[in-house]
Amino acid sequence: MRALVVFESMFGNTEEIALAIADGLQTAYDVDVVNVDEAPPVLSSDIDLLVVGAPTHALGLSRAQTRSEAATRAPGETVTKHKNLRDWLASASRSRNTVYAVAFATRAVKVRWLPGSAARAAAKLLRRRGFESLVKPTDFYVEDTLGPLLPGEVSRARIWGAEVAAKRVESDLDRL
Ligand SMILES: Cc1cc2nc3c(=O)[nH]c(=O)nc-3n(C[C@H](O)[C@H](O)[C@H](O)COP(=O)(O)O)c2cc1C
Repeated sequence: MRALVVFESMFGNTEEIALAIADGLQTAYDVDVVNVDEAPPVLSSDIDLLVVGAPTHALGLSRAQTRSEAATRAPGETVTKHKNLRDWLASASRSRNTVYAVAFATRAVKVRWLPGSAARAAAKLLRRRGFESLVKPTDFYVEDTLGPLLPGEVSRARIWGAEVAAKRVESDLDRL
C-alpha cells in the first residue's frame, strides 16, 4: 500500500512531525513525504492513504496574511514558500474512488486554551472533497511560535502514524 504525507510548515516543526508520522506509517505503507510546495495536483491511483498537516494559524489553516506574518518572524527562509494546504486541498483530485485521509496540525502550547486547529479545518475540507476519514484529526504541540516541539511529540507522532496504519488494516479486516 502507498501513502502520501503532504505538509505545510513555516519554521520546520510541522515538517519534523510529518517525517515522524511517515516513519510510523512504514509499518504498513510505502510512504512519500512532500512539502505542499511540491505536492502533486492529482493523486496517483496507487495512493491509498493521504495524510495532511499544517501549522495552526489564527485558529485554523494559514491564510496569506498569517503566512506573511510568519515569514517576518522566521530567522531565515520559511520551509513552505509558495503554496499552502488550504488551496491544495481545495483543488487536489483523486484518480480512484476511495482514498483514506487523516489530518494533523501543530499548535502552540502557550495558547492551548484557544479553540480551533488546522487539523480540524483540514479534516473538514477532506470530508467535503470526499475522502474517507480513518481517525480523528490530531494536534502536536510546540512551545512557542517558532518551536521547539514539546519533548515527546516526535515519538507521539511516530506512534500515531503506526496507529493510523493499524486502523487501515483493521478497516480491511472488518470488510471480510
Ligand atoms: C501568524 C500565526 C498565527 C498563529 N496562530 C495560532 C493559533 O491560533 N493557535 C495556536 O495554537 N498556535 C498558533 N500559532 C503558532 C503556530 O501554530 C506555530 O508557529 C506552528 O505550530 C509552528 O509550526 P511550523 O514550524 O511548522 O510552522 C500561530 C503562529 C503564527 C505565525
